[in-house]
Amino acid sequence: MLRKYTIKGGPALQGTVCTAGSKNAALPIFAATLLTEEEVILHNVPVLRDTDTMIRLLERLGKRIVRVGTTVTISAADVPIKQPVQATYEVVKQMRASICVLGPLLARYGHVEVALPGGCVFGPRPVDLHLKGLAQLGADINIQHGDIMATARSKTLVGARVDLLGKFGTSVLATDNVLSAAVLAKGKTIINHAAQEPETVDLIHFLQALGATIHCPKQKGYATIEIEGVDRLHGTEYTIIPDRIEACTYMIFAAMTGGKITLTHVQADHLSAPITLLRNIGFEVTVSKGNSHRGTYLGQSIVFQSTPLHQCDPFTLTTGTYPNFPTDMQPLFMALATMVPGCSVIYESIYPNRFNHAPELARMGAAIVIEGNSARITGVHSLQGARVQASDLRAGAALVGAALSAEGESAIKRIYHIERGYEGLVTKLSSLGALINVDEDPIL
Ligand code: UD1
Repeated sequence: MLRKYTIKGGPALQGTVCTAGSKNAALPIFAATLLTEEEVILHNVPVLRDTDTMIRLLERLGKRIVRVGTTVTISAADVPIKQPVQATYEVVKQMRASICVLGPLLARYGHVEVALPGGCVFGPRPVDLHLKGLAQLGADINIQHGDIMATARSKTLVGARVDLLGKFGTSVLATDNVLSAAVLAKGKTIINHAAQEPETVDLIHFLQALGATIHCPKQKGYATIEIEGVDRLHGTEYTIIPDRIEACTYMIFAAMTGGKITLTHVQADHLSAPITLLRNIGFEVTVSKGNSHRGTYLGQSIVFQSTPLHQCDPFTLTTGTYPNFPTDMQPLFMALATMVPGCSVIYESIYPNRFNHAPELARMGAAIVIEGNSARITGVHSLQGARVQASDLRAGAALVGAALSAEGESAIKRIYHIERGYEGLVTKLSSLGALINVDEDPIL
């Protein structure tokens, strides 16, 4: 049975939100546990559909997994892993990040078959950079009947120089895949144009905790990762970084409802670009000087104080790779722009077609014109509640923000997209004073 959110707009959000662990850090870290037979204990794992999907995939790949709240213990199952090692389309179609198992499995077993992920609603999602990188580490790669078949030519992978610059910049998961494969390759690998997203840095820290040898020397203008392959990796206990996208989402919800919230368990330096923009628009964002030491995020918090939207300034933003503005926050800033007076402009440079939320926002009264990879948003006085549907995770979150601030009631359909990536959204929003319910949605 499908479900929907029913949201009565109006209440200004007030209170405290504890930020969950990062989904996008957790998924490649889960995949990287395939590199070791020993036990790994992960803390701060968000409770989400996507982490459940990854756990099911790892169980099929020979892991025994015990989850207690946000702590997950991963060890080898007693039964030997079935050959050939496969991640089938049934799992990969549920979650593109399943592609993360490709590098670790290839490095560990020398042969793997992983279903090719398809496109997604915001455009084609190629994996050419993943395959190029792994081929440079000595893998023969064929695509047959929709599956990627990868085999290490010399039984193990061999270190090499890899460049991951693609048409839209570098790739986060391609970097994660090649990096996770290179840690068990023979000899030295140098990845140029590596992603620098905090989630990739978290994967590097996790791999180092497993015993991998990785250095990140600074180069002019791009990031480099140097890996000296080792024969085996051991177990570890590790805490995943906070979810910067979730934290920023709640700031937008507070901004759109005229609220004031405190976010705890954050790492504010991961949020520099969105925080700078929020301050420029007119909001007050105060970061505590607490302890943000890796693994103990308890000390750092952000207080977000909104400003009446009619006093805010329109803005221009261009999405880009870290530390530039994250594409995953673009839909939420578009929702915000719908009520900021004047004309705001958004340029989407990572996924040029990532504007599926625009027509749904327009159903709520927003004035948005899309031209190529840009959107011009003219602020309106208020949005009106409407029946809308989520097309993807962050587009869905943008509609939640719009519904929280709209006049009257909204129904948001296809919330399974939103549940992929926001832990306890209804509970957290209700605790902040939002009027949100989950109901069955019998009509397709
Ligand atoms: C990750 C995030 C996703 C975020 C995206 C960009 C996870 C689980 N997902 O996705 O939330 O929106 O980073 O920050 O961490 N590309 C190629 N060839 C490739 C791979 C990518 O051309 O082989 C292109 C993509 O189409 C896109 C750009 O590179 O235009 C960046 O995509 P990428 O960084 O790979 O996104 P993901 O890692 O899949």
